[in-house]
Amino acid sequence: AVERTLLLVKPDGVQRRLVGTILSRFESKGLKIVGLKMLNVTPELARKHYEEHVEKPFYPLLEEFITASPVVAIAAEGVDAISVARTMMGSTNGREAAPGTIRGDLSQSRQMNLVHGSDSPEAAKRELDIYFSAAELLDYDLNL
Ligand code: CMP
Repeated sequence: AVERTLLLVKPDGVQRRLVGTILSRFESKGLKIVGLKMLNVTPELARKHYEEHVEKPFYPLLEEFITASPVVAIAAEGVDAISVARTMMGSTNGREAAPGTIRGDLSQSRQMNLVHGSDSPEAAKRELDIYFSAAELLDYDLNL
C-alpha cells in the first residue's frame, strides 16, 4: 500500500554536509517528497518523538545529540515507504549496518547514525504529526 513515513537527517548528517547525499538516496530510490523542513529539535520535541526511549539509560545522551544542532525532516511517500526506507537505512549501529545502506556506507556510530525513519504505520502517523502540520504535507502528482 502507499504509505507516508517520517525521515530525519540527524544533526550529524547536517554537520557532515550529507543532507543532499541522504535526500538524494531516498529520491533516487523513487520515494516522493511530500514535506521538507529544517528545524531545531527542542528537548520537549525530543521527549515526544522518543517517548519509548525516555526511560532508557542512553536517553540523556540521545537528547543531547538530537537537540545539539538542526535536523532536516522529510515526509516521504511511496509503496511500502516505511519498510523501504528502513531497509535503505540499515541497522541502527553504523558499524553493523550492511554496506550499500546509508548507515553502512556513511556511519560508524550507534548514536550518530545519520538518519531516522519511522518503524511502523502507527509510528509514522505519530511522528509525521509531531514534525509536520497538515498544511505542510503536500498532495501533488509526479508527472515527469
Ligand atoms: P533511532 O532509530 O532514531 O531511534 C532511537 C535512537 O537512539 C537511535 O536511532 C540511535 O540514534 C539512538 N540509540 C539507540 N540505541 C542506542 C544505544 N544503545 N546507545 C546510544 N544511542 C542509541
